[in-house]
Amino acid sequence: MLPLFVVLVIAVALARAVVIVPGADWTDTDGNPIQGHGAGKFGEDKSLNSILFHAISCYTSTDLGTWTRQNNALTPIAGTMISDENVVERPKVIFNTKNSEYVLWFHSDNSDYGAAMVGVATASTPCTAYLLYASDNNQDFKISMLNADYLNVTEQIYYLIASHTTGWDPNPNKVFSATSLAGPWSAQVDIAPENVNTYNSQNAYDMLLGTSAIYMVSLPHELSVHYVWFPLSWSSSSGLPVIVPADVWDLNIAAGTYTVETGTAYQAESGTLGGSAVILTNSVYSNGEAVGFLGNGGTLTMKNIEGIGADQWVALYYANGDSTYRNTTISVNGGANIVVQQPPSGGGQVIQSTPVQLNLKSGANTLVFSADQSNFAGDLDRIIVYTAT
Ligand SMILES: *[C@@H]1O[C@H](CO)[C@@H](O)[C@H](O)[C@H]1NC(C)=O
Ligand SMILES: *[C@@H]1O[C@H](CO)[C@@H](O)[C@H](O)[C@H]1NC(C)=O
Repeated sequence: MLPLFVVLVIAVALARAVVIVPGADWTDTDGNPIQGHGAGKFGEDKSLNSILFHAISCYTSTDLGTWTRQNNALTPIAGTMISDENVVERPKVIFNTKNSEYVLWFHSDNSDYGAAMVGVATASTPCTAYLLYASDNNQDFKISMLNADYLNVTEQIYYLIASHTTGWDPNPNKVFSATSLAGPWSAQVDIAPENVNTYNSQNAYDMLLGTSAIYMVSLPHELSVHYVWFPLSWSSSSGLPVIVPADVWDLNIAAGTYTVETGTAYQAESGTLGGSAVILTNSVYSNGEAVGFLGNGGTLTMKNIEGIGADQWVALYYANGDSTYRNTTISVNGGANIVVQQPPSGGGQVIQSTPVQLNLKSGANTLVFSADQSNFAGDLDRIIVYTAT
């Protein structure tokens, strides 16, 4: 099925690449956080910070990086399964050419998730009110082929990316393949190393991009809005899609291509340790070492970090073996502390990265980590400084 935004993009395609930073905050063209939970271009508006239904938002984009909010596609209707006392999640929209109609499928539920239904709504234009016309039980996981009049399927192999049922928490997502939607489906294979919990995410939507694809999720941490989009490439050994864990990548939707940015790595252990910070030794760290006991009195000063005089993306490679978030402060050249969140990385010896945009001056910069914080930060392995802004 061709997703809706491809329909929109084809009409106004511009040959422009945009920088994608998985895990960073995204705002729309009015500067507001994008309320697109659970999908790519239509989403659940969680601006009221509640699971209950507020709106299915609708955004348009010509490059998949710049998003403009349009009218809401669906808003609550009192006395129905889509009232503001119910749950409407994971919206997906497809365009049906036979009826020239946009069809919205969603997870429909009551506030304690006891109903587990599927809802469907239609409209003649993408960002207008939809009419709810059906709802059905969805107690079991089922796949059915949509009516053949939906847009053509160009792939001869079907891939199913599925997450486990761990509520809002991330888990190791699996991929299955089949030559027919009715199966048989292959045995499950991880789409990322199992211990990284799919880089702290759960699959919500995937979109073909030329000969590759994009894995798209919204990161469900306390209902805050973080988007994790990674390229998918096809493994030469298994023939199945795997996540390309890029910190920063360029997406050119018109050309159907992506490019992973490269940056300059600086090892944490090459910096100056302060207070209770210690060097940790383990083969999982790059160059075998990292810095631990940061925060709560432990600090790290990294000098001679080369900048280009811009707000640059920097990836922090850290380990957080707790089941809850840690965070670290960063001060650039003596400036005010910035707090960077460090989600659980999947184990004390599992390294993941998290992005932060830092204003670096041209030439050498000094970064101080974890000063002025009474909580522990994650262990820091290295940082990678990108010139992308
Ligand atoms: C679907 O696409 C294939 C390959 O482009 C084409 O051969 C086929 O006729 C199409 N089917 C329909 C129903 O349009
Ligand atoms: C940083 O993490 C600590 C827990 O370790 C938490 O209490 C604090 O609120 C966090 N700070 C921010 C700004 O997120």
